[in-house]
Amino acid sequence: MLRRLDFVFFSAALLCLQIQLTDAQNNPSAYAPNVNVECPSTPLLRTFSTDNQSLNTLEQDYIQQKEAVSPQAWKAWLGNGSALGYNLSQFEAHFPRIAIAACGGGLRAALYDVGSLSGFDARNDSSVAAGTGGLLQVASYLSGLSGGSWAVGSLFFNDFPPMHDLVLGDSQSGLSGWELSTDLAAPAGDDLFNKDNQYYYGSLLWSVYAKADKGLDTNNFFTNDSSHGAGILWSNMPNIPAFANHSLPFPIIMADSRPIGSNLTTILANTATVYEITPFEFGSFDPGLQAMTNTSFIGTHLNNGQPPNATGCVQGFDQASFMIGTSASLFNQILDTVHNTLQSFDPGDSSGLLYVLERQLTEVRTRSNDVANWPNPFQSINSDTFHDSNSSWLDLIDGATNIENVPIGPLFVKARGIDVVVALDGSADTSFSWPNGTSMLFSQQRFQEVLSETHQAFPPIPETAADFLNTGASLRPTFFGCFPAQNPPEFPLVLYFPNAPPSNGDDPVTNTDTFKLSYTDIHTSLFLDQIQAVTRGGFVPNEKGADPNFGNCLQCAAIDRARYKVNPTVPRSSICSQCFQQYCYDQGNPPAASEIVGRTLAFKDPDPQGVSQVEGFLSKNKIALILGLVGLAVVTIASIFLIFEFSDSSRYFAILRGDMGHPEDKFDQTELFALR
Ligand SMILES: *[C@@H]1O[C@H](CO)[C@@H](O)[C@H](O)[C@H]1NC(C)=O
Ligand SMILES: *[C@@H]1O[C@H](CO)[C@@H](O)[C@H](O)[C@H]1NC(C)=O
Ligand SMILES: *[C@@H]1O[C@H](CO)[C@@H](O)[C@H](O)[C@H]1NC(C)=O
Ligand SMILES: *[C@@H]1O[C@H](CO)[C@@H](O)[C@H](O)[C@H]1NC(C)=O
Ligand SMILES: *[C@@H]1O[C@H](CO)[C@@H](O)[C@H](O)[C@H]1NC(C)=O
Ligand SMILES: *[C@@H]1O[C@H](CO)[C@@H](O)[C@H](O)[C@H]1NC(C)=O
Ligand SMILES: *[C@@H]1O[C@H](CO)[C@@H](O)[C@H](O)[C@H]1NC(C)=O
Ligand SMILES: *[C@@H]1O[C@H](CO)[C@@H](O)[C@H](O)[C@H]1NC(C)=O
Ligand SMILES: *[C@@H]1O[C@H](CO)[C@@H](O)[C@H](O)[C@H]1NC(C)=O
Ligand SMILES: *[C@@H]1O[C@H](CO)[C@@H](O)[C@H](O)[C@H]1NC(C)=O
Ligand SMILES: *[C@@H]1O[C@H](CO)[C@@H](O)[C@H](O)[C@H]1NC(C)=O
Repeated sequence: MLRRLDFVFFSAALLCLQIQLTDAQNNPSAYAPNVNVECPSTPLLRTFSTDNQSLNTLEQDYIQQKEAVSPQAWKAWLGNGSALGYNLSQFEAHFPRIAIAACGGGLRAALYDVGSLSGFDARNDSSVAAGTGGLLQVASYLSGLSGGSWAVGSLFFNDFPPMHDLVLGDSQSGLSGWELSTDLAAPAGDDLFNKDNQYYYGSLLWSVYAKADKGLDTNNFFTNDSSHGAGILWSNMPNIPAFANHSLPFPIIMADSRPIGSNLTTILANTATVYEITPFEFGSFDPGLQAMTNTSFIGTHLNNGQPPNATGCVQGFDQASFMIGTSASLFNQILDTVHNTLQSFDPGDSSGLLYVLERQLTEVRTRSNDVANWPNPFQSINSDTFHDSNSSWLDLIDGATNIENVPIGPLFVKARGIDVVVALDGSADTSFSWPNGTSMLFSQQRFQEVLSETHQAFPPIPETAADFLNTGASLRPTFFGCFPAQNPPEFPLVLYFPNAPPSNGDDPVTNTDTFKLSYTDIHTSLFLDQIQAVTRGGFVPNEKGADPNFGNCLQCAAIDRARYKVNPTVPRSSICSQCFQQYCYDQGNPPAASEIVGRTLAFKDPDPQGVSQVEGFLSKNKIALILGLVGLAVVTIASIFLIFEFSDSSRYFAILRGDMGHPEDKFDQTELFALR
């Protein structure tokens, strides 16, 4: 449940994502999706099969061109290889294909992901000095879900600025940063009932929506008409200079789906279809579906691959903010929960806020039954295996709803041929909000039970969450799959980076609550510094402090699969063998958590502002309020992102008032945008 909620907060967090519009995207007419657009003459649907799995040709081209420039990046990172005991020239034309997976988990995860990427970034001198800076530049893929999709989207749509500037802002380049000090629940400060906060809540109500389509003001929470990044399309990503010149890995974000008709509000079964969204395609490699549609045209309902007619297509549905963060089914489910919770909640302390929430919920309830999701582009496809093949809609929800909080699924797709997967796990599993491997265990199980024919095999990992903790794999970087029995190896090498406390024993500042809705600039900055140090530092068995050799060990891991591609196979160097002894997980001889000494596990607020009334209030009424705030956040999202996609507000209000009767009778593409 909590994992699912992460996503909502995260979506709300988008409100303060200040996207720098490049000229290509700075087109206000992009606010509303265009319906009844002429359909392209090329097919909108692509299907494939287990024996014949294929990638989109534009994705293939991107990877090819990216990998044409990456040998320079490898050389910049590894030199001639002699520090690792290799001759890098031998690996020319055989460099491994690297991918990074950025986890979900609210603002914490977004910061964790970006901080880790900075530790791998060749543009950061400290990362280069540690030997870890360079991995990002050789990576071909970057996947993200939930919080991670925000990190990924933000990185791309801001044209790949230095990570610190991305988060904290930089006046010179005009970046405003993530503005995390603005509390998402109470942007005008601790007094929930002050005028501006009330106005903020009030502005979420329908009465001000009429003004919503007015203009572009990305800066002020308290205006009626700020658009907060609307109009930027995921399919426009190729126009971003850093994408066009292949300086970034190819992005993939994930969404789960709730089988239509299941009404599930619990964790999804591992058979539920998992979707991916790239700048080019939306669809799934899961064996049940194996089909993709063109991202520019998502929103178009296809039946058996055909649009309703030659001018029945939709464009502009792929709002970046919508791709990253919203889902109408979530809206439904959460509002149900909120409603029930609020009804059982003692109004004593908090009647004001709850009154506002109730009022919003009442407004929203009138349309919740009408909320529809994505038009199904896969109707009538694979009707014997695709659960939603009879449905004209898809219910898409948070990519972490099935517990796979680290988005490694798309990186194991066989056709992608990835050799090394870097898994950034910032999940809050333990009582101190550190990961315990649950996400990896779920992925492993799903790979075995559902994806064995379409995806690469999963390397051996500890068998249970308790084993992740007992072996110390949850406290330091651990490499899985170092010892394949075959060539080509039967699984990719997985470099697991858990969010972990500093090796010098300092108080950790990165294991924050998923529901922490604001970070002071000081905390944000320390968070990034700490996670970079953790990323760069590895561990030393039985000692405190960073491993000065970790940079080399990471390089050994990154290049290792190249050895298998050279004929005859190059033996692992003794330098790298030593590294592997320290960092690899060997099933037969597992490491022990007792080797990791002197760590402090409990979070300590580095910049206490006095407990904010909001957070005090939150912790006192935690569950009930969290749910209420989720409702608030969802309404916020709906107001900010969805409204802008609707151009005819009179019709919108007619629908809100219920004038359109029973929606299923009358759905057409236009109404969709009002109801989504
Ligand atoms: C593989 O897929 C392509 C594209 O969908 C199709 O043209 C081709 O016939 C398929 N080949 C096999 C052997 O199924
Ligand atoms: C790498 O460069 C160093 C000097 O910079 C040289 O001594 C060494 O032989 C070179 N190694 C290879 C494998 O080219
Ligand atoms: C490194 O490998 C290249 C290509 O195989 C070879 O030409 C070169 O002599 C090697 N350098 C050293 C120092 O072994
Ligand atoms: C590099 O990382 C350090 C923290 O280790 C940070 O202070 C600095 O701002 C970063 N530089 C850039 C260009 O991101
Ligand atoms: C928002 O709309 C209300 C009602 O029209 C108006 O009174 C108020 O001044 C507006 N606020 C801002 C900040 O534009
Ligand atoms: C690619 O684009 C980025 C972002 O505009 C720029 O910073 C970088 O210098 C460019 N790189 C190359 C190799 O042209
Ligand atoms: C889902 O909910 C609808 C409406 O409440 C109900 O009619 C239907 O039977 C439910 N389906 C399942 C599988 O529980
Ligand atoms: C999507 O369709 C447009 C219009 O036909 C085309 O230009 C574009 O290449 C297509 N994208 C993909 C990924 O096929
Ligand atoms: C084409 O289909 C769209 C969507 O169903 C519909 O709105 C439109 O009226 C149709 N156009 C024609 C010419 O039939
Ligand atoms: C879709 O409908 C057809 C015909 O009604 C039925 O035979 C089939 O089992 C259904 N498929 C799914 C996945 O429900
Ligand atoms: C691991 O984390 C999950 C939550 O993701 C929790 O339910 C489980 O109890 C934890 N297990 C252990 C052994 O800590």
